Amino acid sequence: MTGATGGIGRVIVFRLAGAGWDVIAGARDREKARALEADAAGLGLALRTVQLDVACEQSCREALEEAAEMTGGGPWALVNNAGIPQAGALADVDDARARHLLEVNLLGPARLCRLVLPGMAARGGGRIVNISSGLGRVPWPMGAWYSAGKHALSALTHCLRVEAAHLGVRVCLVEPGAFATPMLGRALTDLDTVGDPGNPGYGATTRLFASVDRRVPGPEPVARTVEACLTARRPRPRYVVGRDARLLVPLHTLLPLAWTDRLKHAATGLPRTSTPAPTGTPPGPRLGEPSGRAKERA
Ligand SMILES: NC(=O)c1ccc[n+]([C@@H]2O[C@H](COP(=O)([O-])OP(=O)(O)OC[C@H]3O[C@@H](n4cnc5c(N)ncnc54)[C@H](OP(=O)(O)O)[C@@H]3O)[C@@H](O)[C@H]2O)c1
Repeated sequence: MTGATGGIGRVIVFRLAGAGWDVIAGARDREKARALEADAAGLGLALRTVQLDVACEQSCREALEEAAEMTGGGPWALVNNAGIPQAGALADVDDARARHLLEVNLLGPARLCRLVLPGMAARGGGRIVNISSGLGRVPWPMGAWYSAGKHALSALTHCLRVEAAHLGVRVCLVEPGAFATPMLGRALTDLDTVGDPGNPGYGATTRLFASVDRRVPGPEPVARTVEACLTARRPRPRYVVGRDARLLVPLHTLLPLAWTDRLKHAATGLPRTSTPAPTGTPPGPRLGEPSGRAKERA
């Protein structure tokens, strides 16, 4: 189980340990791992941890080797839960931030799937649960990289489900709506960090996230769903969790894009038409035309 020190991950590992599962919780920070073990022990739960940074290939290999030693073979199930937000307009998020998001939210989970599959196949089966997001199906402006990473995780999960079926490995995708965890706070910090004060999307999105953060439920429904993925004889390929996601996902599939674009303009405060330049402002170059300086150089 990756990302066990966070909001949803912590609730999942405590729930599974409470139900008698032999849980190996991945944590990238040793201090947090020790605190998690102590909290579990305080609740009378047995829970073991391994150090795991999903963005680092070597860490993934070492964590799985350690888990194999602990379990005498390897895990029966993998829950890819670790994830980070990356809020901000596409125009403001640089390559380094985008690459890190893809490392954590996409390449890390994909790598772990690849590394656990041979062991699962050798034991005749297993389960993989990938935690995506409702925003993996509803691309959300001012959070394009997060949506893109989760869309890609979704695609990868659907392919893996078919590819791993003959190995006896069942693969599920969980798509939560908004739940109360530190993640929304992290997204608000992103908006502050990359924000362009001239872009009205930042103010409106900050207000939207802050108001969602005040009203969202705790993450127990996600933990219940993950347990269902692990215990059901025939788990469903995908589980949409939370009222908001159960409303938004089908709505986004059914409505024409022009309508959903309108809704997104309204929610993010991003104008639908360009604002005319103040009178007296010299017109800038059009896309594809050389700028004034380029003309001078020519
Ligand atoms: N909360 C929501 O509303 C929501 C909605 C839809 C989907 N989700 C998804 O649910 C999952 C859990 O989110 P959350 O809300 O619980 O977030 P969170 O509270 O911010 O926790 C994220 C967890 O991921 C871990 N993590 C981050 N980078 C990592 C890395 N490189 N290697 C290993 N672990 C790493 C964090 O570890 P540290 O403690 O060391 O930072 C933390 O344990 C994510 O995949 C997220 O996209 C959340």
